[in-house]
This record gives sequence, structure tokens and C-alpha cells, in this order.
Amino acid sequence: MRRFLLSLSTLAIIAGVAHAGPVEDREALMKERGRLMGELGKMAKGEVAFDAAATLAALQTLQANAEKGLDVDGLWPAGSQGDTEASPKIWEDNAGFKAESEKYKSVVDAAVASAPADVAGLQAAMGSMGQECAACHQTYRVKK
Ligand code: HEC
Repeated sequence: MRRFLLSLSTLAIIAGVAHAGPVEDREALMKERGRLMGELGKMAKGEVAFDAAATLAALQTLQANAEKGLDVDGLWPAGSQGDTEASPKIWEDNAGFKAESEKYKSVVDAAVASAPADVAGLQAAMGSMGQECAACHQTYRVKK
């Protein structure tokens, strides 16, 4: 009986971890990046008419998102790799990962500062931001 109760509480702890915490927060953060880049991509590809105000709004949301991503210690605390796509390199080279987050943020800042006025500008901004997504993923994300 004691063992049974013990395993029940262990299950409760595991369930708790699975439903709240840094893993969910960082996955939500990344999904928002994907969603916003997808929205911008439709305009960049001409599937949707270019809209400067909508572009700026999406870039500003990406900027706030990138700001949150600077909280590496909070979002990727040691021991939180679990069964996620986070690579062990995040913790092996934590300084490098933080530098990558900073670099990405600075590229998003630059895109907001010189907000695209046309499709060509949007394509250029997406190119430079996308390069940082890819650079970080290549080193710090493992595809599952
Ligand atoms: C500083 C590093 C870094 C940058 C920059 C970055 N990512 Fe990620 N991304 C990660 C890591 C690490 C993961 C693996 C998930 C985890 O950490 O648990 C990930 C996962 C993802 C996922 C999968 C989320 C899920 O679990 O469903 C998406 C989508 C994604 N990133 C989109 C983007 C896009 C789009 C950009 C650029 C606009 C971007 N990321 C920039 C590090 C980064």
C-alpha cells in the first residue's frame, strides 16, 4: 500500500512537470515565432497583399518574444532537457547559447528599427531573421 501511494505521488509530480514549467513556456515561445514568421511569409511570398502596419505589428510581437527568449536561465534551466528537442549543447555551451539568443534579438531589433516599406524590404528582414533561427537550431536543437 505504501509503495502504491508513493507511486501515485510520483505520477502526480510527473504529470505536474508535463503540464507547466519552462518546457511549455519555451515551446510556446518558439511556436509563436513560427506562427509570426508564417504570417510574414505569406506577405513575402505575395500570397497576401503587403501591409506595412501588419508587418510592423508582427515584427514588434517578434521583438517582445525575442526579449522573453533572453531569459535563458528561466526557460532552459539545467536539467530541463527531458524528452524535448533541446540539445544538450545548450548546457554544455550555455554562454554560446546565450550569445545566440542575444544575436537573434539584435537582428529582430534591427528589423523593427528599419521597418520594411515593401515586399523586398520584408524579404530582406525575413532573410536575416531566418538565418538566426537556422543558426541556433543547427547547433542547439535536435529534431525529433
Ligand atoms: C537562441 C536559439 C534559438 C533561436 C534564435 C530560435 N530558436 Fe527555435 N528553438 C530553439 C530550441 C533550443 C528549440 C527546441 C525546443 C526546446 O528548447 O525545448 C527550438 C524549437 C523551435 C520550434 C519547435 C517548437 C515546438 O516544440 O513545437 C519552432 C517552431 C521554432 N523553434 C521556431 C523558431 C523560429 C521561427 C525562429 C526564428 C524566428 C527561432 N525558432 C529562433 C532555439 C532557438
